[in-house]
Amino acid sequence: MGSRTCIGKNISLLEMAKLIPQLLRDFDIELANPDKEWKTTNKWFVKQGGFFCKVRLRSAGIESAVVA
Ligand code: HEM
Repeated sequence: MGSRTCIGKNISLLEMAKLIPQLLRDFDIELANPDKEWKTTNKWFVKQGGFFCKVRLRSAGIESAVVA
């Protein structure tokens, strides 16, 4: 991409490799409104708006809403 590489690359890859499997292992995650169109804005980074999910703790079955 540029002339130098990202010095946070290994930290970021480690976080993704740890966080995503851990989330999927511990929680069932589904869209709160699966029929609703995704709304994104792109200002350098693409950001989602109104992205609601239902998150259920897999072992205990406790449900709560999360805003991302
Ligand atoms: C998903 C997370 C990240 C992405 C997608 C990302 C992406 C990038 C990209 C595309 C560059 C430009 C590289 C180039 O010019 O070729 C960059 C540079 C840089 N990143 Fe990251 N980065 C991430 C996380 C981090 C983290 C966690 C840190 C610090 C702990 C960090 C520190 C830096 C620094 C200091 C530079 C400038 C390097 C230089 O110009 O010498 N980044 N990053």
